[in-house]
Amino acid sequence: MIRYPERIRRARLPTPVEPARRLSQKLGVELIIKRDDLTGAALSGNKIRKLEFLFAEAAAQGADTVITCGGEQSNHCRATAVAAAELGLRSYLLLRTDNPKEPPASEANILLDRLVGAEVRWVSRDEYKRRATLFVEIQGQLLAQRRKAYVIPEGGSNALGAWGYIGCVQELKEELGDGPLTIVYAAGSGGTGAGIILGIKLLNLPWRAVGVNVCDDKEYFVSAIGEIIEQAIQRWLLPIEFDREEIEILDGYVGLGYAKSRPEELATLRDVARAEGLILDPVYTGKAFHAMTQELTKNRGAFGERICFIHTGGIYGLFPKAKELEPLL
Ligand SMILES: Cc1ncc(COP(=O)(O)O)c(C=O)c1O
Repeated sequence: MIRYPERIRRARLPTPVEPARRLSQKLGVELIIKRDDLTGAALSGNKIRKLEFLFAEAAAQGADTVITCGGEQSNHCRATAVAAAELGLRSYLLLRTDNPKEPPASEANILLDRLVGAEVRWVSRDEYKRRATLFVEIQGQLLAQRRKAYVIPEGGSNALGAWGYIGCVQELKEELGDGPLTIVYAAGSGGTGAGIILGIKLLNLPWRAVGVNVCDDKEYFVSAIGEIIEQAIQRWLLPIEFDREEIEILDGYVGLGYAKSRPEELATLRDVARAEGLILDPVYTGKAFHAMTQELTKNRGAFGERICFIHTGGIYGLFPKAKELEPLL
């Protein structure tokens, strides 16, 4: 039995698994969707699974504020801000934008951040690179106001957050049994992938995990995911063997860059919506799904007979793309 660290339960779990019948027929494989977009309306997506553990540690340390960071439309920041409000804590977000003097409008995730009362600090791409130092500075400023802040890393991706996806793999085993399966997921900061790989190993499952990077490259993610896994093994003395070479990253689908969409990616997103009534997001799941279907078109057997695509959420990222989607509708 797996012994989990302390957690504060906020996600609606277990999330359902659903067959994608029409797409399965078209692609010639059995395709199942793990609906982690349904972890909660405003909390939706993969982040709350990690935050359950991170908020428990924040509470244990007596924090009254959580600080975190991300891109301007960060799903992680939105989930953190909403969860903080649910738990009666304050949230402080460092949001990266091109020109902090002219921040983007309060739409989609930003609107939700502000609605639940997050303190938002806009930072440039260069400042964002120094986020570790900024975190320490902000913690100090808050301490001067007698506030105790707990820092959550980008994407909630560290060894503690990874437990969220160990839990997801355990759910999948209960939902799908332990026959051969390939899990396909979008990789943004690495915590989801690290948790999935740890879960597969801890439960001794004959499963593959394939991450599609939506930014950076394979080398970056092998290192980011590898580091989280190694830290988790060390911190909780997990009884598993691990080699970074085991991390499978499907590179080559970043396209125009992080949060930038090519028409063909948006066309895949539209086609999935029309075939299954399943709404993907353009930044993560749409890109990963596009990559998966492209690979399957080249080679039907690329991921074996049975695939589980993790829908990690992100629906609010769709709304800022309305203009780009319009010509495809
Ligand atoms: C909707 C969505 N899917 C996938 C990811 C990627 O997860 P991770 O950051 O754990 O790699 C993120 C966040 O980065 C996300 O917001």
